[in-house]
Amino acid sequence: MRRLLAIILVCALIAGVGVGCKKAEVLPTEQVVNLGGIYPMTGGSATFGTSSMQGTAMAVEEFNAAGGAMVDGVKTTINYVNEDDAGSPEVGASAAQKLINQDKVIGIIGAVMSKVTLAVAPIAQSAGVPEISPTSTNEKVTLVGDYIFRACFIDPFQGKVMANYAWNTLKVKTAACLFDNGNDYPKGLAENFKASFESLGGKVVAYEAFTDEDKTVDFKAQLTKIKAAKPEFLYLSGYYGSTALILKQARAMGLNVPAGGGDGWDSPDLVKIGGAAVEGGVFSNHFSKDDLSPKVQAFVAAYTAKYGAAPDALAALAYDAAGLFLDAFKTAGSIKGSDIRDAMKNTTFSGIGGAYKFDANRNPIKAAVILQIKNGQQTFLTTVNP
Ligand code: PHE
Repeated sequence: MRRLLAIILVCALIAGVGVGCKKAEVLPTEQVVNLGGIYPMTGGSATFGTSSMQGTAMAVEEFNAAGGAMVDGVKTTINYVNEDDAGSPEVGASAAQKLINQDKVIGIIGAVMSKVTLAVAPIAQSAGVPEISPTSTNEKVTLVGDYIFRACFIDPFQGKVMANYAWNTLKVKTAACLFDNGNDYPKGLAENFKASFESLGGKVVAYEAFTDEDKTVDFKAQLTKIKAAKPEFLYLSGYYGSTALILKQARAMGLNVPAGGGDGWDSPDLVKIGGAAVEGGVFSNHFSKDDLSPKVQAFVAAYTAKYGAAPDALAALAYDAAGLFLDAFKTAGSIKGSDIRDAMKNTTFSGIGGAYKFDANRNPIKAAVILQIKNGQQTFLTTVNP
C-alpha cells in the first residue's frame, strides 16, 4: 500500500513538471481491507470468544478464496482483525474505537454478549460502520440504530420458548428465577420467561438476583430462599459459568427440581464445571450440530476438520453473521458503510441457520432449538418455530 502511494506521488510530481504519467499504470488491481471482530477471548465466558472467532475466520477465508469482492474494478479481499472484549462493555468500547479509528474497518462482527454489544453499537452507529452481532439476543441491541444488525432471534422469543416447554412439556405450575441483574441479557431473559410463564397460568414463586456473574461464586443465600418457595422448575438465564456453579450448589442443598435456561448455557465448560449437577438441564439455543440438513452437516464436517471439535451455536452464528456481511459487501461493491448497510437490509443470504431476512428492526426471524444435557452431551430435543 505504501509503495503504491509512493508511485502515485512520484507520478503526480512528474505530471506536475509536465512530463506526464499514464493513469492506467498506477491503478491498483488488488487491495485488502480490514474487517473487525469483537469477542470475549478471556474472562468467565471465554469459550464464546474462541468459537465465534473460529466461525468468523472460516467465513473470511472462504470469501477470500472465492475471489473476494470487486470494488470500483479492484479485486478486494479481507484481513480479519480480531479484538478481545474480555466480556466487559468498557473493553469492548475501546476495541471498537481502535478498530474504527486505527484499522479503518469496513464493518464489525460482534460482540457476543448483549451488554458488550450495547456498548459497542453506539460507537459503530455514530461512525457509520455497519455492525452485526452473531448472538446478542437482548431486544435493545438493534434499536441502537440502523447500522446495527444481528444474526439471531431475540429474548422475548427465547423466554417464551422455555416458558412453553416448562408449562406444556414438563407440566410444571411453578418456577423460580435466579439471574445477574447487572447484565441486560440474563435480566431481560428472566423477565421474558416470567411474563410468558405467568401468561400461561404459571406462577414464579421466587425471583432472586445477584450482581456480577464473573465475580459471584456463592449463591447459597438466594438458593435458600428459592428452596423455601418450593418451585417445580428452576430457570437460570445467565451464562454457563454461573449456571454450573448455581446448579452444583442447588443440588448440594437438595434442590433437585428440573432446571432450564437460554443460549448462554452453550459451552463445553457447562458440563466440565457443573458435572452431574447440570445433567438433565434443558435450554433454548440457535443451532444443533445434530440437525440433519445437508448444509448443517457439511458445515459441521468442515469446521470439525479445521478446528478439531464440532461447532456450537456461537461458531455457527458467527460464521453466518460474517458470511451475511461479506455477501452484502460483495453485492454493494463498495467499502462505504452506508452502501454495505443498505445491502445488508435487503439481504436474502442463505446461511447454515437458513435464509436470513431482516424485519424493520434488523432482526432476523428464526427458529429456536431445545437441547438437553444427557450423559454430559448436548442432545437435540425439538425445534420451535416463531
Ligand atoms: N445471547 C447471549 C447474550 O445476548 C449471548 C450468547 C449467545 C451466549 C449464544 C451463548 C450462546 O448475551
